[in-house]
Amino acid sequence: MEYRITASQLRQKYFDFFTQRGHCRIASAPTVPDNDPTALFISAGMQPLVPYIMGQPHPAGRRLVNVQKCFRTSDIDQVGNTTHLTFFEMLGNWSLGAYFKREMIPWSWEFLTGKEGLALDPRRLYVTVFAGDDQVEKDRESVDLWREQFARAGIEAVEGERIFPLGRADNWWGPVGRTGPCGPDTEMFFDAGGVPCGSDCRPGCSCGKYVEIWNDVFMEYEKKADGTWGRLVQQTVDTGMGLARVLTMLNGLDSLYDIDTLRPLVDQIGRMSGRACERHARSFRIVADHANAACHLAADGVEPANIERGYVLRRLIRRAVVHARRLGIEQSIWAPLFERVRDGESEVYPELESRAGQILDALQGEEEQFERTLKEGLKRFEQVARRSEETIEGERAFDLFATYGFPLEMTQELAQERGLAVDAKAFQRAFARHQELSRRSAGQPRGAAHPSGLGDLSDHIPGALQ
Ligand code: ALA
Repeated sequence: MEYRITASQLRQKYFDFFTQRGHCRIASAPTVPDNDPTALFISAGMQPLVPYIMGQPHPAGRRLVNVQKCFRTSDIDQVGNTTHLTFFEMLGNWSLGAYFKREMIPWSWEFLTGKEGLALDPRRLYVTVFAGDDQVEKDRESVDLWREQFARAGIEAVEGERIFPLGRADNWWGPVGRTGPCGPDTEMFFDAGGVPCGSDCRPGCSCGKYVEIWNDVFMEYEKKADGTWGRLVQQTVDTGMGLARVLTMLNGLDSLYDIDTLRPLVDQIGRMSGRACERHARSFRIVADHANAACHLAADGVEPANIERGYVLRRLIRRAVVHARRLGIEQSIWAPLFERVRDGESEVYPELESRAGQILDALQGEEEQFERTLKEGLKRFEQVARRSEETIEGERAFDLFATYGFPLEMTQELAQERGLAVDAKAFQRAFARHQELSRRSAGQPRGAAHPSGLGDLSDHIPGALQ
């Protein structure tokens, strides 16, 4: 496929633009946070930088630019369509007290519309800003700054037509977790064409007409543990541009899976299965997304396990294997798929190269282990499903997990395909009983076994903003 712009070219454009404006390029932090015990994974570019946003001096200075690896399971059930990924890359630049709205909004305009940036047609750009509420006033400064930018292109930016003031659900960022930096944001959208889905179709609508391309967050507040708000010691900027989404838009593609870093995985799955992606798109995409994410998580040292991060990796690997087998792929999928990820990404994420041996061992080892019980497990699942009326009992789902290694979510997915539900609460009770028995037989003190979190395992502790 011929690309107008590749992932590598877009990253470079972004880095060049901001290094020319005094930013220092820093490496992506791992997907596993080392400064936040409440988070399983890094799900936004600012997370690894929170201590510096809060005031600690960063060794690379006050202006930073990078691409950050992020992983979110919140949308894992949506993976399989054209627009959702669990692993994604976020381009971002940061001001740690160096500049604020007055510099950032004109730079956003220049990058989006200028020749050294994306050269987008300004007439197709729309923005949202924070409308204000009883706690924080409307972000009028951003409205004025956007008006000035649109005026540069001869466009009169009217509120409600070009600039949309929206509430906290749309235009407020953070904190990630219960406490930390937060503030209003302004989001930029590109009109991908087509007709509005209804009279209230506007930027932020999920119909696909308005593609969100960038988010500038102006963090000057801090949410504290007692629920009160304070001011940060400095005004900071955190911006996030989803690399895959913007590449899809710039290349005029229909699916995130067609960008140059993911398409080779889809093509590889096609070669291994001898089938066409168009006819089996959901399984193709699940295998491609989960394999890509699993390679990156393993590169950051995550190993398959029954709790926490390891459980998430186990779930990804096993679900990818199930969908690969459905596509008729009987051989191990990991060596060829890891090769594609490594070819495309190790230039920017060198750990894919330096930890190649450990990554393959973790992925292949897990596949082999699962392979031993998979066929029997699927047979057992069929029996259980046939005997169940509307809901598969929690005990049966737990048996599929404990005996055949079926993560709860996998059983739920298989059940859903047959119009059945799974009693997840009873599964959790069975799991807790099982843990208590193992604890007693191992003579461990209470609390030594980690509460599994299975079934409602999210990337953050409950209450965290995703
Ligand atoms: N932290 C902001 C985001 O992830 C930029 O959208």
